[in-house]
Amino acid sequence: MGKKSLCLVISCALLAYFVYTPLPDNIEQPWRLRMTWAAMRVHVHLSGLLEILGFPPLVFLYLLEVPPTSDANVTVTDTLFNKVPVRVFEPKQKSSTMRRAVFYIHGGGWTTGDATCISYDRLGRQMADKLDAMVISTNYRLSPQYHFPTQLEDVYEALRWFLRKKVLAEYDVDPTRICIAGDSAGGNLAAAATQQILDDPEVKIKVKIQSLIYPALQALDMNLPSYRENAHMPILRKLDMVMFWSTYFTSDKALEEAMLANQHTPVESSHLFQFVNWSTLLLERFQKGHLYTNPIHGHSDLATKYPGLLDVRASPLLADDSRLQGLPLTHVLTCQYDVLRDDGLMYASRLRAAGVQVAHEHVEDGFHGILSLSRDFRAGQREFRKYLRWLEENL
Ligand SMILES: *[C@@H]1O[C@H](CO)[C@@H](O)[C@H](O)[C@H]1NC(C)=O
Ligand SMILES: *[C@@H]1O[C@H](CO)[C@@H](O)[C@H](O)[C@H]1NC(C)=O
Repeated sequence: MGKKSLCLVISCALLAYFVYTPLPDNIEQPWRLRMTWAAMRVHVHLSGLLEILGFPPLVFLYLLEVPPTSDANVTVTDTLFNKVPVRVFEPKQKSSTMRRAVFYIHGGGWTTGDATCISYDRLGRQMADKLDAMVISTNYRLSPQYHFPTQLEDVYEALRWFLRKKVLAEYDVDPTRICIAGDSAGGNLAAAATQQILDDPEVKIKVKIQSLIYPALQALDMNLPSYRENAHMPILRKLDMVMFWSTYFTSDKALEEAMLANQHTPVESSHLFQFVNWSTLLLERFQKGHLYTNPIHGHSDLATKYPGLLDVRASPLLADDSRLQGLPLTHVLTCQYDVLRDDGLMYASRLRAAGVQVAHEHVEDGFHGILSLSRDFRAGQREFRKYLRWLEENL
């Protein structure tokens, strides 16, 4: 074998090693997922390299920001809700009655994503068109430049601005038919904002529904069964999620390291663990093969330095039952192959126990981000259609 063909064989082997990711058998279009995941990682590596060389960062395809462009059915505009940038999707067809509204919060680990990026633009547009609803897709400032609670404060500011008689009337929105929704980190912000509205005497108009799509809901236990089972699953590994959580609170790498070891909580926080105790909150089938051990506490200074770590506004699962009781009808979507699966499962179970109406959709062949990737994955399209049907019937 010549040198050239040897090089070729080695390159192919390296490429195959990079691209090949073991996936569960019931994932539909596994190669498409592997290629998407490989492209994401190449993008991260290339961006890092370019940054070192002093070039501007590369924008990944899914995060490409698109201008507000109206189509045949939906008028799209960018505006500010009390200084917070939002994208508004308004159906063109005249409506004889007031419209429903969805206040949407994008995901991206509190560090990336934008209401104007191609996948969220598409999501907002389709929701507005198919549901004949006003869709407000909000932005918020991102980590690492801004940390908790800036993200939540921005979202809450825009939400409060929207939930006023005058503004709703301007958009011809029915104040009794408003949904607050978000995916991933956006689901976290949606859950936190919905809890916050309950106690806010200045917000008179409450939401009818909260919809949490594979939400992140707690930063206490980074070793739930779903974290263990899906630690290496695209498109969100345990490593990535731990980095997102710690970056939400601080750029101090000490927190990330402690979270990876699951030893980031002080002993004074032990009473909070009842709210994330998966041995009581998860159904048997999700506990299978895992042994519950009580938390190992360490680093009491981290929670003092970064109090967000134990803050219910960052981890909505830490709310006690009396707080949960007042929550509106809650839609939760969880995916089997997702580190955040158990966050959603435990919230659904706690809400039910508190007497809140819950509509839970568990996607057996789902992985994290499936709705944002619905253009490319049949399972995503299927789930998105189901989601729209549910909103159609319940909002
Ligand atoms: C507009 O709505 C019509 C009727 O529902 C549909 O056939 C068409 O595809 C929609 N156009 C766009 C751009 O979404
Ligand atoms: C979690 O629940 C189990 C019972 O299922 C109990 O033995 C354990 O002490 C609980 N741990 C915490 C930290 O609440």
